[in-house]
Amino acid sequence: MVSVTGNLAVDSLSVRFTLPDARVSAVSDVSFSVSPGECLALVGESGCGKSVLASALLGFLPGNAEVAGTAMLGSLDLLSASDQVLSQQVRGRQIGLVPQSPAAHLTPVRTARAQLDEALRFLHPASERPSADSVAARAGLKPADLDLYPHQLSGGMAQRVATALALAGDPWLIIADEPTTGLDRALVDALIDELRVLVADGRAVLLITHDLSAARRVADRIAVMYAGRFVEVGPAEEVLDAPRHPYTRGLVDSLPDRAFTPIPGLPPVLTDLPPGCAFTPRCDRVTDECADRPQLTRVNGHAVACHQPC
Ligand SMILES: Nc1ncnc2c1ncn2[C@@H]1O[C@H](COP(=O)(O)OP(=O)(O)O)[C@@H](O)[C@H]1O
Ligand code: SF4
Ligand SMILES: [Mg+2]
Repeated sequence: MVSVTGNLAVDSLSVRFTLPDARVSAVSDVSFSVSPGECLALVGESGCGKSVLASALLGFLPGNAEVAGTAMLGSLDLLSASDQVLSQQVRGRQIGLVPQSPAAHLTPVRTARAQLDEALRFLHPASERPSADSVAARAGLKPADLDLYPHQLSGGMAQRVATALALAGDPWLIIADEPTTGLDRALVDALIDELRVLVADGRAVLLITHDLSAARRVADRIAVMYAGRFVEVGPAEEVLDAPRHPYTRGLVDSLPDRAFTPIPGLPPVLTDLPPGCAFTPRCDRVTDECADRPQLTRVNGHAVACHQPC
């Protein structure tokens, strides 16, 4: 088990981007917490705000972003902390990020080992520094794999190098952003096993994915995001086996091993959200009431934001 413990409590997080001619409501009023030894999966279609949420927690948002709410890591509010504090105390040390498209984040002219060694030097004093090989092994890499350059890495290997970099500072929380994208089935299976080991080891995993099957296999809890908001949150099995929000039901029904029926229509543009429930144009249960935005209402640990839940 890892010795570090922590807790992340996000409360009413909102992120807006100001563009020359519009404002994008990328994340709206999102609250959740995550603790060591559990995996929370954040699921939803592309463009619903998942990566922006992760970037907000790590202070990676661009200058045109406006953030509200709090994200308490112990007594530190990540949303108001300076870049220096985030860099010295949080990134890599308490929260490790496996970014979306990991290959794009590796420096092309340096081997994986050189990049991992650099991260380890930054994150640990010499007397306590683990070897690159030992950190790589935790991400499923062999020592020889580290001697490859990024262009020599397959998608699966690049994913593992990114995971090793995220683990370099022994963080208690790993945020993995779409880690299964582009991997074949065997590599997805291996990745799921690796994430499970991290959780069993006492770490927390925030798994960001549009892959419900992956979420089912590793998550304890699932938060379903639509148009920047959480619309359903609960234990993974309950949310996927008995979805209460029509959007979650639509996602489940669109799986190949279920009805394989896509949700009609497209997600809304986040510059132009309707005042009521954002799912209204795609929903088969809509009534007049849906012109008022439903609140996320919790019953026995399972929350849903819908006036006519399934
Ligand atoms: N820097 C930015 N400026 C303006 N809009 C942005 C910016 N970054 C992301 N967005 C918008 O925020 C929304 C959420 O994006 P994102 O979090 O990347 O979605 P996903 O759920 O696919 O990870 C999208 O509509 C995206 O276009
Ligand atoms: S609030 Fe209304 S439109 Fe929104 S998901 Fe529920 S039934 Fe559908
Ligand atoms: Mg994303």
